[in-house]
Amino acid sequence: MSNVKPDEVETQTASAATSKRKGHFKRFWWAYLLGFIVVATVVVVPLVLLVAVPRIAQQRLNGATLTIDGISVRNTQTNSFVMAINSTIEADDSVYATIDAFEGTLYLADVDPPLAFAQIEFPRTTSSAMQTINVTQEIQISDQNPLTAFNTALLSSASVKVQIKGNTHIHVQGISRSFPAIFDKTVTLTGLNNFDGLSISDPSINAISATNNFNGTVHIPNPSVLTLEIGNTTFTNYFNGEEIGQTYINNLVLYPGDNTFFTSADIAQLPIINALTQEPFCELQGRLPFQLSGKDVVNNGQVLPYFRDALATNNQSITIDLSEAVENLGIPIECVASSSN
Ligand SMILES: *[C@@H]1O[C@H](CO)[C@@H](O)[C@H](O)[C@H]1NC(C)=O
Ligand SMILES: *[C@@H]1O[C@H](CO)[C@@H](O)[C@H](O)[C@H]1NC(C)=O
Ligand SMILES: *[C@@H]1O[C@H](CO)[C@@H](O)[C@H](O)[C@H]1NC(C)=O
Ligand SMILES: *[C@@H]1O[C@H](CO)[C@@H](O)[C@H](O)[C@H]1NC(C)=O
Ligand SMILES: *[C@@H]1O[C@H](CO)[C@@H](O)[C@H](O)[C@H]1NC(C)=O
Repeated sequence: MSNVKPDEVETQTASAATSKRKGHFKRFWWAYLLGFIVVATVVVVPLVLLVAVPRIAQQRLNGATLTIDGISVRNTQTNSFVMAINSTIEADDSVYATIDAFEGTLYLADVDPPLAFAQIEFPRTTSSAMQTINVTQEIQISDQNPLTAFNTALLSSASVKVQIKGNTHIHVQGISRSFPAIFDKTVTLTGLNNFDGLSISDPSINAISATNNFNGTVHIPNPSVLTLEIGNTTFTNYFNGEEIGQTYINNLVLYPGDNTFFTSADIAQLPIINALTQEPFCELQGRLPFQLSGKDVVNNGQVLPYFRDALATNNQSITIDLSEAVENLGIPIECVASSSN
């Protein structure tokens, strides 16, 4: 016994302990497995639930494309209107998820910082790869300015960027809890581009009357997907930099595509007669360039500042061919020497 070195004693003791531990493990392996499962469940599952799944859910939401198929602004009143949006959301369908209903804020994204102009309740959407979301809602106008800014951009630009943003929750199939997510999409809408293509056909002139002495059919192209109930609209007319009268369009509702309305006007006769017969405008042979800018918008007795001011922001150019109407009155369209020879 005495020749056993202390080192060996230790080794023997250690190996005895090892085999003892091995036996313990063999008998209690299930406890270790259970422990491992508990640790895995406690640590890994929440990690998946708290980090991976929400990230996947948010990624799914980020990857989805929102398409605006149509927007209508109807029943327009001074302090409210009814907005309807038809839209389509297309998502990658590898993850089945539901997006909770949420309040989305609509921003004009062409300005920095983006300007909130309306709020819409979006309904809950299910997990299908492609889903239409149609909402109709009355919107109370708390501030005319942002709405006017949006309408100005819509009417005067070729395109306008709209951001729709809101906090929501996502439910992923098979997991009972939901995860917070941000719905944030920016869409580009075609604008009315300052009424590019505006024209008047069949103009009719009354040379005797000082008021209601012009009418015709106005053609207003609307390349956007928006329907706008504007109402009774008055424009100020300019010719050669001077105010020459007012133009009226009643019951103006712009639908996507081409729109035609009856229009009438009170026009000062003298500047027009002079232009038709004197240099330089007589060279145009009756095709005179006018400018229009919005003056009043009243819909069923309600003043609509958010359309009136948007229409007043710019001049819309329009060339009216008066040759036929003027010739019908027996007035020759030709350059005549100024009487002050
Ligand atoms: C939405 O779609 C419905 C059904 O096609 C249609 O009647 C409605 O006018 C559309 N609304 C808008 C705002 O585009
Ligand atoms: C939603 O709008 C689309 C047009 O964008 C239309 O085809 C669909 O029928 C509408 N759905 C409902 C329920 O109005
Ligand atoms: C306006 O149009 C009508 C036809 O709708 C025509 O009879 C009338 O003479 C026109 N008025 C003026 C002032 O040109
Ligand atoms: C429109 O044109 C007229 C005449 O040139 C000018 O007096 C007026 O200020 C212009 N309006 C706008 C909004 O630019
Ligand atoms: C437009 O004006 C006419 C004539 O004053 C009126 O009869 C009509 O109700 C008005 N329309 C709207 C939409 O306000």
